[in-house]
Amino acid sequence: MAKSCLGLDIGSYQIKIAELVRQGKHRYRINNLCRFFPPKGSMAQDRLVDPKALAFVLREVLDKHEIRTDRVVLGLNSHNMSIRQVSMPRMSSRELEQAVELDLAEILKLPTSQAVESIYYSYDVFSRGQELDVVVVGCSKEILDPHIAMIKAAELTAMVIDVAAFNLPRIVDNSSQTRTCYVDLGYGQTVIYVESHGFYSVYRIIPVGGRMLDEAAAAAFEMDVFEAQKLKYEYSLEEMLRKGTGDKSMLRSVIHQYTGGIMQTLDYLRSQSRASRVSDILDQVVLCGGISHVHGLVTAFQQELDITVKRLNPFETYSLAKGIDKPVDYGVYANSIGLAMRGLSE
Ligand SMILES: Nc1ncnc2c1ncn2[C@@H]1O[C@H](COP(=O)(O)OP(=O)(O)OP(=O)(O)O)[C@@H](O)[C@H]1O
Ligand SMILES: [Mg+2]
Repeated sequence: MAKSCLGLDIGSYQIKIAELVRQGKHRYRINNLCRFFPPKGSMAQDRLVDPKALAFVLREVLDKHEIRTDRVVLGLNSHNMSIRQVSMPRMSSRELEQAVELDLAEILKLPTSQAVESIYYSYDVFSRGQELDVVVVGCSKEILDPHIAMIKAAELTAMVIDVAAFNLPRIVDNSSQTRTCYVDLGYGQTVIYVESHGFYSVYRIIPVGGRMLDEAAAAAFEMDVFEAQKLKYEYSLEEMLRKGTGDKSMLRSVIHQYTGGIMQTLDYLRSQSRASRVSDILDQVVLCGGISHVHGLVTAFQQELDITVKRLNPFETYSLAKGIDKPVDYGVYANSIGLAMRGLSE
């Protein structure tokens, strides 16, 4: 039987798992999809503080879904990770390994108080012209070790741990080479990722997400946050602004933070490429994550950004195993599917 792989996306609102199996050279099937809320107290923002509690529930969920594989790719999007791009003179792989190790503190711009030994790091070479362009990713052991312990306690084998967003381009058919900005709209944060010619270009996290939207809706409708969080499933952004009779300034501000954050990133990219318009360097913005399903968000972004904006639908390109239905909020699974793809490409 073909080997399957799990993509594990640890979100601050919910944990998502996708199991994928290869079906022929370029075809994949989604065997399983599941999600669950992290046990109370197991996460503090995006930090995993109780690996055992999370591992216990994860194991239960995997068993319930009869998921037998232990192969997993874990993805994180965290401001605790440093991602830096550096250019190095041409050298052999061995020399590069030594150079990155030697210059790590400088490359990752570590504060003097942080020892290099406290960091896990990895790097990838993405162009071999006159110079080597290298992307280096570092994450403190303090952040990553609980995740590694959790994977082990859940009787899984971590094949790869990666920046989750780096794998989003894997789930779209990009034979037409559309230049895309991926925006993952989660509960605690929004992650923006752009590749250029198939390689890392920009990765940015803006601290705005579903949690803030719920708080803003609570103020606009003068109700508690628990009740207000349901509003975004029912009303579009425009309806929330129109129907809310309370203080709507926070709602306006949250919408502005979303569009402002994306616009700023695109503008940075534009200036880096010395282009005069964003549309000269980018064809589209693609949204995923739970908040991408809030009604009216695509239109609001489209108006502000003046570029094609659409939702990323991973289910357009994959077949589904019997008994697996396409979820209504399909965008929440984008990262987990991308991560599982990463595992199958190993
Ligand atoms: N159909 C929907 N309409 C509106 N909001 C939705 C919908 N589905 C999910 N959400 C909201 O999306 C958010 C969860 O999205 P997601 O699972 O992408 O977050 P997360 O990955 O756990 O968070 P983060 O990436 O910030 O850690 C919640 O605020 C949830 O209420
Ligand atoms: Mg997320």
